[in-house]
Amino acid sequence: MDVPPPPAVSTLTSMRAKRWFTDRPVADEELRQVLEAGRWTGSARNRQPWRFVVVHSRAVRQQLAGLGAYAGHLATAPVVIALGVEEDAGGEDAQFDAGRAAQNMMLAAHLQGLGSCPASFFPEANADRASRLCGLTPPWRARTAISIGHPAPPPDGTSAIPTGRLPLAQLVTEISEPRH
Ligand SMILES: Cc1cc2nc3c(=O)[nH]c(=O)nc-3n(C[C@H](O)[C@H](O)[C@H](O)COP(=O)(O)O)c2cc1C
Repeated sequence: MDVPPPPAVSTLTSMRAKRWFTDRPVADEELRQVLEAGRWTGSARNRQPWRFVVVHSRAVRQQLAGLGAYAGHLATAPVVIALGVEEDAGGEDAQFDAGRAAQNMMLAAHLQGLGSCPASFFPEANADRASRLCGLTPPWRARTAISIGHPAPPPDGTSAIPTGRLPLAQLVTEISEPRH
């Protein structure tokens, strides 16, 4: 029989992507807590290869929303955090580190009753445009931004993206003895 998760764990596992938001602004203190969660993320050799560009401007959010096939929610969220990553430093670790920072910020939003969703800028030329719009210059580059706001129900109640997760039985293998 499955044991129910402790509340702290179900708080983590209950976070779903939110792409629709009410008009209610994100309070300065809520936003600061989200940014603090990003700031305190661990990174390889403590390089902290990230910068957080907080985009309040509706005009800039609308431009960013056009730089990814699925980035439309950036236009309707009250605030967006673009993730500048120092791509020259730390190689692939930098992207892993930035992903950790993003997840920490999204969880900090979730824990405060806010919703969030990442958006990817692609192809490469769009990541370059997004970086310029965010005032980032090489080696800093934004491939991803996160919408944050008070969640609203999706207008049609459904999403084209499949939900749910693969079962642990499909995801996990265990090694108890050396393999020869
Ligand atoms: C690296 C990354 C990029 C993503 N890019 C987008 C995106 O461009 N647009 C979008 O709507 N969602 C984006 N997402 C959100 C995923 O679609 C979402 O995490 C996934 O569908 C699981 O959602 P759920 O937790 O609500 O089931 C991205 C997620 C990640 C981790």
